[in-house]
Amino acid sequence: MSELTVRPVDRLAGEIRLPGDKSISHRALLISALAEGKSIITGLQSGADCLATRRVLAGLGVRIETLADGSVAVFGSGPAGFRASPSILDCANSGTTMRLMAGIAAGLPFATSLTGDASLRKRPMARVTVPLREMGARIQAEPGELPPLIIQGGRLTGREHRLTVASAQVKSCLLLAGLLAAGRTTVIEPAETRDHTERMLGYFGGRVERAGRTLSIEGGQRLAGRPVRVVGDFSAAAFFLAAGAIVPEAELVIPEVGLNPSRTAFLELLRRMGAVIEAEPGGETAGEPSGRLVVRGGHPLRGVTISGPEIPNLIDELPLAAVLGLNARGRTEVRDAAELRVKESDRIAAIVGELRRLGAEITERPDGFIIEGPQRLRGGRADSRGDHRIAMCLAVAGLAAAGETVIEDSGCVAVSFPGFEAALGSIIA
Ligand code: S3P
Repeated sequence: MSELTVRPVDRLAGEIRLPGDKSISHRALLISALAEGKSIITGLQSGADCLATRRVLAGLGVRIETLADGSVAVFGSGPAGFRASPSILDCANSGTTMRLMAGIAAGLPFATSLTGDASLRKRPMARVTVPLREMGARIQAEPGELPPLIIQGGRLTGREHRLTVASAQVKSCLLLAGLLAAGRTTVIEPAETRDHTERMLGYFGGRVERAGRTLSIEGGQRLAGRPVRVVGDFSAAAFFLAAGAIVPEAELVIPEVGLNPSRTAFLELLRRMGAVIEAEPGGETAGEPSGRLVVRGGHPLRGVTISGPEIPNLIDELPLAAVLGLNARGRTEVRDAAELRVKESDRIAAIVGELRRLGAEITERPDGFIIEGPQRLRGGRADSRGDHRIAMCLAVAGLAAAGETVIEDSGCVAVSFPGFEAALGSIIA
């Protein structure tokens, strides 16, 4: 199994080339497949999760080609262009693929089977199967509403869904099902979550109405294929923002990063902790704002509490809050983040357990963790637990440790950031 070795550094300098945003890439593929006509997607993320979405769509008869310049052409023929797959479709490690595809499959007039790897087969699907059944889909799952899912779709009826979990995946699943349903589908979120689906649907000519946390879509709308340029992934940038904030002589430039306000709470968190980050807004691409970030190290960090409605906006960055907390003066506390326990790994147990192995003192809570800082990690061996974000987070933690850190099973970074190791290597002087 692959390992990544990280040595402590005092200096980081350079420019980071980010992979395309993972969430936007999934939506670009799915929504262009539902549209009519050709969509050429540039900057599509090439990580394993987005490849899973591409493979699943191809399995359902959607023609997708990689062009000579690396961009990807999707030839959409509307929902009627989808064909039943003779085999079970593999979503690999990707919760986004399974949950968003479940919404589409529920609206297609045949049976679709979706499975995934050992991690995905442990992740809760009731949050999508229950509301999709209420719209008329017939869905079989394993006990506990776990994958594989067998979805017999077609003839959905729009209705109102009041969600109990703040999840962009669930919201998106139901909006996509709503697009294929008769009548109006309304989704009421308990807290705001990333809005890439709404933006991408709008960009393709669809109409999603929004009033606060209530979203509505009329079924039967036709979408038209369009060129999409995918902006850089803010969640990938977050590892380098954290690295820049904890390494004393750091200056890192991150161009062309997505700055959608429903994704950038981590930027506010870094600033609240005392980090210095310049943001230069750029334009809007395919309905998504982007810009350039510069982080400069050497500014003392202070502990903070992270809780409540800000959690969904930085859910994927929360393991990094532990690394920042170790490097900050005072108490850092994460609360209201029990959702972390049902990600690619139990991210609360993973980050607490693995940072402890590297020498940290952390208190684990059912919905988060508490760290008294500053603390210097000793280094040593830690395990990614097969979770890409845990692997990258441990690598960042290792930059500020006393000794060498070895991250076992680090190959999983390819799920969302295939060039991570090279990007990290390139900024270590
Ligand atoms: C995602 C939504 C989030 C996030 C995941 C990607 C998306 O999951 O953790 O990495 O693309 O919609 P939840 O919506 O389940 O919180």
